Amino acid sequence: MKFFSLAGVNASRVAQGCMRIGGMSAEDIDRLIRHDLDLGINFFDHADIYGGGSCETKFGDFLRANPAMRNRMVIQSKCGIKPGSYDFSKEHILRQAEQSLSRLGTDHLDFLLLHRPDTLVEPEEVAEAFYQLSKAGKVLHFGVSNHNPMQMELLNRSLGENRITVDQLQFSMAFTTMIDAGINVNMENGAAVNRDDSVLDWCRLNGVTIQPWSPFQHGFFAGPFIGNPDYEKLNEKLDEISARYDVTPTGMAIAWILRHPAKMQPIVGTTNLDRISQIAAASDVTITHDEWYELYRASGKKLP
Ligand SMILES: NC(=O)c1ccc[n+]([C@@H]2O[C@H](COP(=O)([O-])OP(=O)(O)OC[C@H]3O[C@@H](n4cnc5c(N)ncnc54)[C@H](OP(=O)(O)O)[C@@H]3O)[C@@H](O)[C@H]2O)c1
Repeated sequence: MKFFSLAGVNASRVAQGCMRIGGMSAEDIDRLIRHDLDLGINFFDHADIYGGGSCETKFGDFLRANPAMRNRMVIQSKCGIKPGSYDFSKEHILRQAEQSLSRLGTDHLDFLLLHRPDTLVEPEEVAEAFYQLSKAGKVLHFGVSNHNPMQMELLNRSLGENRITVDQLQFSMAFTTMIDAGINVNMENGAAVNRDDSVLDWCRLNGVTIQPWSPFQHGFFAGPFIGNPDYEKLNEKLDEISARYDVTPTGMAIAWILRHPAKMQPIVGTTNLDRISQIAAASDVTITHDEWYELYRASGKKLP
């Protein structure tokens, strides 16, 4: 596993998503976390809402039983989504961060992200919440998820030293909206529609790390594209290029994301230990420029 500096933190290039651990036994979670750490995956992504809080609680049970493991981990959580609305008020952010800390059994979060844009956001309130959390040593770094550049600019204007370092966005071989618009500039086709305000380029220009979520899904929680008959050409090409590097298609789907020079940090949601090993093995593979485009085109995308 390779590492990189994320806001000065030594982070694995691949992160373990914890959204799907709520239904797992304590023994299976223990095995999953130790497996990740053994492979070098030291970054764990949570949110206050995952499993209604049970994902953080179960992860925290592991830490309460193994407190010495905390310093081998980078822990991230998110807040801002509540039933029926999004809420970036100071009170909500402070309350949710405290609850995440308590459930996770840790005295600090390495990263705290705002989960989905709240159109009623008052940036000064976010700034005050971030300042209090940072000053108390409860959150070390901050970020957002599913935000576009103007929304990040709006927040950053008030955030001072607690500027946004991460934007978590949906991205996979079969879900490439943030790349399609840039490739199709000036074309009349639908792929030219710039839905997210050139977020990929903005993040590169501003040193914000993109964390692709659902890197194996072809739509919003639509199911994986690997082995999916609707993605026959992509699977054929994945098989061909994976074999060339002696990795699996599952691993190659992550190597493809890692090949992008934006230095994205994919968050994988699988809890299958074998798949995680395949992903870790492929994360050291660097495919060629042309292979990257071959896979992009095999997913059904056309170059103008
Ligand atoms: N910021 C946001 O709005 C947002 C939204 C969603 C998720 N997230 C974060 O992103 C993480 C990943 O999301 P996700 O779980 O939807 O992503 P994912 O990694 O694309 O999907 C994982 C799911 O696909 C299944 N799967 C089937 N075949 C697979 C294969 N060949 N390779 C890998 N997985 C395969 C896995 O099952 P097995 O476990 O059986 O392998 C698992 O249920 C979450 O845990 C969460 O931390 C963030």
